[in-house]
Amino acid sequence: MTTDQQIDANGQLRHLITLEGLGRDRISALLDRAANLREAFAKGANGPQLLAGRTIINLFFETSTRTRTSFELAARRLGASVLNFDIASSSTSKGESLEDTLATLEAMQADAFIVRHKENGTPARLAACARRAAILNAGDGNHAHPTQGLLDALTIRDHHTDFSKLKVVICGDIRHSRVARSDVHALEALGASEIRLCGPLVLMPAAGDFPQCRLFNNFDAAIADCDVVIMLRLQRERMLEALIGDEAEYFSRFGLTAQRLSRARPGALAMHPGPMNRGIEIAADVADGPQSVILDQVANGIPVRMAVLASLLSS
Ligand code: CP
Repeated sequence: MTTDQQIDANGQLRHLITLEGLGRDRISALLDRAANLREAFAKGANGPQLLAGRTIINLFFETSTRTRTSFELAARRLGASVLNFDIASSSTSKGESLEDTLATLEAMQADAFIVRHKENGTPARLAACARRAAILNAGDGNHAHPTQGLLDALTIRDHHTDFSKLKVVICGDIRHSRVARSDVHALEALGASEIRLCGPLVLMPAAGDFPQCRLFNNFDAAIADCDVVIMLRLQRERMLEALIGDEAEYFSRFGLTAQRLSRARPGALAMHPGPMNRGIEIAADVADGPQSVILDQVANGIPVRMAVLASLLSS
């Protein structure tokens, strides 16, 4: 799906499938709305009941802790009803197509579907056949995870308002990462000065995949002078063969340790989208240390998803 297919004839977001090409203004507006909702909630206000009477269905074909839960909390805070569709006991296991499942649930007046699937393009496929409901991509294969890109951008913006001065390194399993792709699209749109990607050769993206980034295989070099360090999970479920044999060796070359973090700018942010593997991707003392904003990322998931739901569904 192209960006244009996410936008309706009035220039409004109709679906959220990818951040690619969405542009600085639209992304900044979503972050501003998320920040306002977060501030209102911190003062004790429940979210404005913008989605009262609306029904949102979580359609997760892959596991999730953060995304599914925070979409549910976000929707409830805006007054919507939420259904967590049980894939295992549904008729998809009897061969019903995803399109027929969607049409069936839309006939029950569902207003939005939050879709996670292992296959690239599944949310776009559903968006192409949705009659009136909005489709929100909660992660498809290694293609995109747009709300993760937005919540990562909000977390960074809380510390650095001027992206034009920012150097960001993303390290780990870039090849299989939808988070890396959405983070790069958000950072590029917001004008980050430099985006570096680092990982072992077998986990680097295909040539030409990220023309806007500098590629590294040496983490000590890649992290130097960075303001933000984003670590990625080793996504073994997306590896067709065991690409990383020795986890201790991986950690020694690509793990984020306190010593390595000291090569970045003083106070550099340490980030991880989760779920994280301590001692493989990131040292426990860094994950729990003063430069870690990992739980801030999690917390920002709720206002970001409120902002996206409100933008798509409230008139
Ligand atoms: N970051 C993220 O997508 O986490 P979950 O898989 O727990 O949703």
